[in-house]
Amino acid sequence: MSKTPLILVALFGGALAAQPSAPDPVAAPLRELPWGQLNFLHTTDIHGWWGGHLQEASYSSDWGDYISFAKHLRDRADADGTDLILVDTGDRIEGNAIYDSSKPRGKFTYEIAKEQTIDLICSGNHELYKAESADGEFYHTVPDFKDNYLASNLDIINPETGGRQPLAQRYKKFTTKNQGIRILAFGFIFDFTGNDKNTFVQRVEDTVKEEWFREAIKDKEVDLILVYGHVDIRSQEYALLYSTIRDAHWDTPIQFFGGHSHIRDYHIFDSGSVALESGRYMETLGFMSISGITTSRHQNPNTNSKKRTLQFQRRYIDNNLFSMHHHSGKNATTFPTQHGLNVSLAIGSARKSLSLNHIYGCAPRDLFVSRRPYPHNESIFTWLETELLPQSIKSRDPSKKALVIMNTGGIRFDVFKGPFTKDTKFLVSPFTSGIAYLKDVPYTAAKRVIKLLNNAGPILSSTNDANATFLLPPEHVAAARYRPHLFDSSPTDPSEHPNQDGMLDFASVDLGTRQHQGNQQPLRDTHHHHASTEPPPLIPGYTTHDDAGSDGDDTIHAPIQFYNVPNCIQAAVGFSPASVSGSGSSSDSAGPDSWVDGAEMVDGDESEPEVVDIMYNEFIEKWVLLALAYLGESYSAEDSHLYEDGKSFTDIMTDWVEGHWGVDDVDDDGEAGCPS
Ligand SMILES: *[C@@H]1O[C@H](CO)[C@@H](O)[C@H](O)[C@H]1NC(C)=O
Ligand SMILES: *[C@@H]1O[C@H](CO)[C@@H](O)[C@H](O)[C@H]1NC(C)=O
Ligand SMILES: *[C@@H]1O[C@H](CO)[C@@H](O)[C@H](O)[C@H]1NC(C)=O
Ligand SMILES: *[C@@H]1O[C@H](CO)[C@@H](O)[C@H](O)[C@H]1NC(C)=O
Repeated sequence: MSKTPLILVALFGGALAAQPSAPDPVAAPLRELPWGQLNFLHTTDIHGWWGGHLQEASYSSDWGDYISFAKHLRDRADADGTDLILVDTGDRIEGNAIYDSSKPRGKFTYEIAKEQTIDLICSGNHELYKAESADGEFYHTVPDFKDNYLASNLDIINPETGGRQPLAQRYKKFTTKNQGIRILAFGFIFDFTGNDKNTFVQRVEDTVKEEWFREAIKDKEVDLILVYGHVDIRSQEYALLYSTIRDAHWDTPIQFFGGHSHIRDYHIFDSGSVALESGRYMETLGFMSISGITTSRHQNPNTNSKKRTLQFQRRYIDNNLFSMHHHSGKNATTFPTQHGLNVSLAIGSARKSLSLNHIYGCAPRDLFVSRRPYPHNESIFTWLETELLPQSIKSRDPSKKALVIMNTGGIRFDVFKGPFTKDTKFLVSPFTSGIAYLKDVPYTAAKRVIKLLNNAGPILSSTNDANATFLLPPEHVAAARYRPHLFDSSPTDPSEHPNQDGMLDFASVDLGTRQHQGNQQPLRDTHHHHASTEPPPLIPGYTTHDDAGSDGDDTIHAPIQFYNVPNCIQAAVGFSPASVSGSGSSSDSAGPDSWVDGAEMVDGDESEPEVVDIMYNEFIEKWVLLALAYLGESYSAEDSHLYEDGKSFTDIMTDWVEGHWGVDDVDDDGEAGCPS
């Protein structure tokens, strides 16, 4: 626990850029950037991770490094006469302490974001949940990015005049710097309904009928149509935009960029139209190139179809300096620009002023949202259900029993073995909501609420939201809705699932660029074994399977298995331990089939109580009330009370960590370090 290593890291880390406490990136086999005629860098769902990931080497670069990286790629485009465009598709706020713990909440975020030259930017749903953050877009992001901010289906009440107006211009037409490619661009948000009263999201199906939209797509003097937005690339919204635009432009290339679902994905609409989604949390820099675009200056004489010569290629770059140095052809000395270094320093000083490295305790093991099955002793939900909630939540008096229900979507990120810091606290639970409860609910109904919430079914189809997937973490919503194959629902050990990518032979992998067009089959060239050098072990990470195959990731990883999680989990408070079979208390119970049981009582010495309190995070009140109504128990929001004056779950969790994982020898900065 000597402090010397930290100081050394700080000194050298400063020279490398990234945040001083970020781990050094690890060398790994890389696929090249498929640079083309028109190139894009795409970020989405940053959620405040401007400082990068300080406990994961693969994603340890910060926003300053991204600024340096983009500068080098822009220089490359200028040097070889190609073009580079930067896109961000929203959800820049909420989910990281640099946003959520500052007062006011956007204090550092807008200043950091605006340092990057983003050519096309839009709002996500997180910018719109609260009126203040929508106003933050109005007062900061929109003016900071001026003409580059588009709001094709989003209005705001102007806080100065009280009148309703588009948050930004609906669309724009521009030409690229070096080739004069004429681009018509739109910036959308999905059909979001959870926004505060000062914004208006117009459904995409209504927007495409608007006069301005129909006029805009009549324009034939365009070389490329670009639709970017906070929209899942496999959503109905994008399917409709694709078909509407394609009807008006039978052969103009249409490029989509999407977001919201926190995954890496690439979708091919047709041989002239594709969509890229670039992950989440500054883990991924999406790269896209298009070649063969016919421009007014550069006609292709061989064909009368613009589509036929097109070539689309994508790459998901792991956000770390090893990847960035490689793809920019720079090294540790030549990579950082003065501007990038400035921004890294600004992020560092913002983090310091917020004491984000303050340690509350040392996590004794990793706890994962999706990388372990549920239940499992390394599932964060099993930890909540069997340790944190029962040990933190007190029933009203010792004779009362309670059931505590939480939706899994309230937990945003993993806990890694080691320091649990102020940073960790907000990464895991950025939301400010507290815990509500209903008193003395008949136990026969109360114990069935969790089953209904996890079964979706009747109560959930009665809401506008069609199903309960919004109770889940975003990655799981994307899976449930559009990608049923994405998560494994069996609770088996990930090491029992070696898949093809995990057996890649380092020496024989084709690291060159590959062309991805139209309906190319997934590549199967990973099994030629040479008895040459011993390959270094691959780092676990994303192994993306998308419409173009399995070679989109820049870094060749050993696969990580991801598992399904239930909508909600439940802890029992005040019951004797022997009478509870929490579904998380045994790691050998089956997967999804066992979820619906929650912490169901088994026959024991203890007789079932007549009544219990039902406790739940405020966010899910609507569904708890619906479930009870379905079970014949009528309650309304007026019947609910706030636990401990609305103490947030975030604070409940932090108190538990201090009480159970606390460190004794915290120094003045709260940075004692944890045993390794
Ligand atoms: C970095 O690249 C520059 C220019 O190519 C070279 O002069 C320098 O020696 C390199 N530095 C390192 C540490 O490799
Ligand atoms: C870096 O920051 C310094 C001091 O704040 C400033 O004078 C300088 O202009 C900045 N340089 C760049 C390239 O942003
Ligand atoms: C988790 O459970 C596995 C299998 O039951 C066991 O081998 C392992 O030691 C446990 N890990 C912890 C941290 O308790
Ligand atoms: C969730 O709703 C979408 C449409 O709103 C539907 O397509 C999908 O099948 C539903 N998923 C589940 C798991 O019910």
